[in-house]
Amino acid sequence: MTDTLHAMIISKKKLAKARVLVVGDVMLDRYWYGAVDRISPEAPVPIVRITREEERNGGAANVAYNVVTLGAQSSLLTVVGDDEASHKLEALVAGTGIRTHFGRDADLKTTVKLRVIGRQQQLLRLDFENTPKTEVLASQSAAFIHLLPEHDAVLFSDYGKGGLAHVSDMIARARAAGKPILIDPKGSDFSRYKNASVITPNRVELQQVIGPWLDESDLQAKCHNLREQLGLDAVLLTRSEEGMTLFDAQGQLHVSAQAREVFDVTGAGDTVIATMAAMVAAGMSLRNALPLANRAGGLVVGKFGTATVSYEELFA
Ligand SMILES: Nc1ncnc2c1ncn2[C@@H]1O[C@H](COP(=O)(O)OP(=O)(O)OP(=O)(O)O)[C@@H](O)[C@H]1O
Ligand SMILES: [Mg+2]
Repeated sequence: MTDTLHAMIISKKKLAKARVLVVGDVMLDRYWYGAVDRISPEAPVPIVRITREEERNGGAANVAYNVVTLGAQSSLLTVVGDDEASHKLEALVAGTGIRTHFGRDADLKTTVKLRVIGRQQQLLRLDFENTPKTEVLASQSAAFIHLLPEHDAVLFSDYGKGGLAHVSDMIARARAAGKPILIDPKGSDFSRYKNASVITPNRVELQQVIGPWLDESDLQAKCHNLREQLGLDAVLLTRSEEGMTLFDAQGQLHVSAQAREVFDVTGAGDTVIATMAAMVAAGMSLRNALPLANRAGGLVVGKFGTATVSYEELFA
């Protein structure tokens, strides 16, 4: 394995022209902070008196947010409900400069992850979600065809919530249009990602599909098989504290993890694929984008909460 840590530099001006179309499952990350003064008389649970509320872009919305904070352009195509959370999320997303294309399904509950935090600790997480209807997803495919020519790369952020039921059709369209296709996969069936340019599973996600590997050479053989079976240009395995490895037709390229301090690893995968997509949209090869994505991942784990990386930080 060779480490190529000579990260390429790309001008801010060039990156500003790169347009990434992000498609996938969005969610609203909600945090309710409060004071805990007593135990409930109704059940042996603490009573939290909410004093502060915070909302953040989650899932594909966080991925798109990572694209724009780097200084590239991003559009976000997704299906949400017609509830309070969906309007909150759309306003939040639009406020970051992302172009929103939100399909609304009145029967759908927008995915919300609500954390209740008291005395500096998470006491409870409440998840609201359900699967979008096929008719609304079909209209999403029509919107996709319309948006495709205005973008330089397509990024599918699959959080397994059902918003990417038509991903195979969209991949075929994008491929026919010659656009690079990057996918953050979920689940045990990767055949739906056939003919994408690159998929970016983490260790657990990859293991669910190819099974456990004995050593590096076994992993290498298994990744090359997967790549060939699925007709992918590359498999990018993100390996948390072990960095990441790109498996492509030339062989493989590994970069070691770069974090100086690790505070919060959540969302690192989002930052990695967003960085890859922004760089590829600007014309960079996957191999050249790899050290930059790794650097971005290393920077973001040094921040609290799901976070993003700026152009200045990345090229500092
Ligand atoms: N503990 C860590 N130390 C250093 N770098 C890290 C660490 N965790 C993550 N990274 C960086 O972030 C990249 C992506 O992390 P990881 O493989 O955990 O993705 P992930 O599981 O998809 O993350 P998530 O789903 O939480 O967003 C790694 O390849 C590495 O560059
Ligand atoms: Mg991930």
